[in-house]
Amino acid sequence: MEIQVFNSMDYEEFVDKFGNVIEKCPLVAAAVWTNRPFTSLAALEKMFGDFIDLLPPSGKEGILRCHPDLAGRDLLRGTLSSESQGEQIQAGLTNLTVAQRSQLSELNASYKNRFHFPFVICARMNDKDTIIKQLSSRIHNSPEHELNTSIAEVKKICHLRLLDILNRVPHGTKL
Ligand code: GUN
Repeated sequence: MEIQVFNSMDYEEFVDKFGNVIEKCPLVAAAVWTNRPFTSLAALEKMFGDFIDLLPPSGKEGILRCHPDLAGRDLLRGTLSSESQGEQIQAGLTNLTVAQRSQLSELNASYKNRFHFPFVICARMNDKDTIIKQLSSRIHNSPEHELNTSIAEVKKICHLRLLDILNRVPHGTKL
């Protein structure tokens, strides 16, 4: 059972492995380690979600504020986390037309001005057109609704990043 590999990790190994399943928030993995042993990957994933759900609104906003803008400065400078870079490339955000780039940049700025956190969406479950569409629509949500929607997207990102980690366990590893 794959999960035993992760259950046997000390906290440093665990944070190295899972520290970015929530973007730039290794604290979440460090806290989740306390709850081992995990009975399954789904149980492990639930621990990440439960930790976030128990945060006050300011904590949830803090998690969102650790995310880079989509197609923002970090993508241009090559300073994204490797996970975020892969997700943004996969969504086609490195292939925007000049018009799309400026539309996204204006929408990102208006969104942050309204909600005080960046627009977060599971980029791998979208493409550049649906991202722009969703951003144009979600900007009209109430702050409370948008906080909930954004946290649900963080959990989708976390789900896919956990699957990536699981698939990266080398074949032949004694599980
Ligand atoms: N969706 C997937 N990855 C990311 C990210 O790094 N930032 C934002 N804003 N959304 C994402």
